[in-house]
Amino acid sequence: MAVIISNDNLKEGVGKTTLNLLLANFLHEKLKEKGKKIILLEPDQFHDSITRIREKELELFLEMVEARYEDENGKDSFGMEQKDDAIGMFNNETFGVVSVQSDEMVSTIDMIASECDVIIIDSPAGSLALEENKVYSLIDYLFVVFNMGGSEEESTGDFIEIYNKKVRPIREEMGSDINVYGILNKFKTTGKDFMEFKQRMENGEITKKFPDIKFLKTELPYSFQLKREPTTTRLNNIVNILEPGDVIFNYCHEVYNIIYNKIS
Ligand SMILES: Nc1ncnc2c1ncn2[C@@H]1O[C@H](COP(=O)(O)OP(=O)(O)O)[C@@H](O)[C@H]1O
Ligand SMILES: [Mg+2]
Repeated sequence: MAVIISNDNLKEGVGKTTLNLLLANFLHEKLKEKGKKIILLEPDQFHDSITRIREKELELFLEMVEARYEDENGKDSFGMEQKDDAIGMFNNETFGVVSVQSDEMVSTIDMIASECDVIIIDSPAGSLALEENKVYSLIDYLFVVFNMGGSEEESTGDFIEIYNKKVRPIREEMGSDINVYGILNKFKTTGKDFMEFKQRMENGEITKKFPDIKFLKTELPYSFQLKREPTTTRLNNIVNILEPGDVIFNYCHEVYNIIYNKIS
């Protein structure tokens, strides 16, 4: 059975998709030699759809392979067989993307969980409020993405409250463990909001306010590298050049270490 994870929040723009894509790329790179399969599951995403980006990437890849093939073999020889091989190659090189209607999430997860090792759910904003508790109760590791400042803490608090009220009891009843982490993302290290939050972490105020949340050691400040572009693989190139000590590397590793034992 696949381990199901998700970076999530009620709010749009906090970095859910960015972190989900980053982990998908990292876990694929890290685990491909062991034959492990990673699938990013995308429910009902209308704009900025990863599924659509992925289709374009495949198209470009096929055009490139076809052009190269024809260079080497003369015109008109790139047929179905060559195309299938190229698609196979593309699929091996990157994690899978599965698009699904939100009312078919549970049945889809049921179906793919036995065929892959990690499922990363990239929810649209606000989905926890949309009675999708059944889906949430399937998530083994929930990473709540915290942004700093304004009403961020309040809406993140709402998200955690809904989770605790609606999802936690379902998981408890199923006898499943509950793993909810916090990840600080997209803040300015020198910003007042971040510094205040850190201070409140140190004096125990945050633990008191969010007693069920374990915060990751690694925090992800605003960085040019994480500025998302319309590609599912650019972060993969980043993952490949990361070195220990780099916060993005540390983040990926920290999550990897947390979930590693659950990957069969
Ligand atoms: N740590 C970060 N540093 C810089 N930009 C970030 C970071 N995290 C997210 N972003 C940017 O913030 C914007 C919103 O992120 P996105 O992942 O689409 O959010 P969501 O999926 O929560 O709506 C994107 O332009 C993305 O590149
Ligand atoms: Mg998103």
